[in-house]
Amino acid sequence: MSMSKFTLAAIVALIAAPAFADDTPTGDAAKGEQIFNRQCATCHVIQDDSGKVLAGRAAHIGPDLWHAMGRQPGTYPNFNYGDSMVAYGKTGVVWGHDNFVEYVQGPTPFLRKALGDNSARGKMAFQLRNATDAEDVYAFLYQYRTPAADAAASSN
Ligand code: HEC
Repeated sequence: MSMSKFTLAAIVALIAAPAFADDTPTGDAAKGEQIFNRQCATCHVIQDDSGKVLAGRAAHIGPDLWHAMGRQPGTYPNFNYGDSMVAYGKTGVVWGHDNFVEYVQGPTPFLRKALGDNSARGKMAFQLRNATDAEDVYAFLYQYRTPAADAAASSN
């Protein structure tokens, strides 16, 4: 590798680093798993491509949360999302730390703010009561994040 290519790669890595560092969990994944099992598993499963259930039971009232972190909102195949969630996904975001923690503490207020539309509505009839629980669940779900987000992060 020529020196200039190396320098360019280093600069790209420096620029890319903060975007992913923000998504590193600070919560407790083990506590997050308990919260998931008690509160989220009523509606959500974490089931991989091969059909193996990694967490939860078989609930499909909400979308499968396998690879949810790093995924475009509202895009799990064959799930009947609300229009607001689909619209939110089309704004070019993926689920990560900041939007997840806020969403899960109030889906409809979150979507209204994100879309700048006071008639927006979330279909998820549930919210976590506090930020600590949201951080812990985030740490748990982060273990099942999309590999694409990882590949980008590990290139730093
Ligand atoms: C009462 C059922 C229910 C419960 C309980 C519930 N959810 Fe949901 N969840 C949904 C539904 C329905 C949607 C689809 C929302 C929409 O289309 O607006 C959803 C969407 C989501 C999404 C967006 C996924 C995507 O593919 O874009 C995430 C992330 C999520 N839920 C996380 C959680 C977590 C974490 C918990 C527990 C703390 C939880 N949910 C509890 C029903 C539920």
